[in-house]
Amino acid sequence: MTVSPATNSLSPVKLLNLDHVAIAVHDLDAALAGYRSRYNVEPLYRETVENQGVEEAMIPIGGSFIQLLQPLGPETPVGKFLSNNGEGLHHVAYAVVSIEKALEHLEAEGARLIDSEPRSGGRGTRIAFVHPGDLGGTLIELVELADG
Ligand code: CO
Repeated sequence: MTVSPATNSLSPVKLLNLDHVAIAVHDLDAALAGYRSRYNVEPLYRETVENQGVEEAMIPIGGSFIQLLQPLGPETPVGKFLSNNGEGLHHVAYAVVSIEKALEHLEAEGARLIDSEPRSGGRGTRIAFVHPGDLGGTLIELVELADG
């Protein structure tokens, strides 16, 4: 049985695509070397995002990215994640048209937000996180791309 997708393109939280899947690693260089040798892929971006306490690399896969995250220190959120869980899946990120409208809608829905205001992410994006306790045990990042 197929399920019809929602057709209201004016929805405040229309999800444009799966922007990235984020994986926490101890050593970004080693992880990139592994992806290079196993899967023959290279990062398109690599940068430090101070407000998230990470150095990140973005590997393009089709229209999405794999985001590898190395913490800047053990007391950062990703540093604590690694010491509690080890390396592995950290969050999934969905691209939205307007991050303000998405947050407004989620607040009205009573969603458990980590960020009630957008902050800056890599690639000039604006992002906000939704708590993993809100839905499906998954940390969700909403991303508004720099070029809209
Ligand atoms: Co991310």
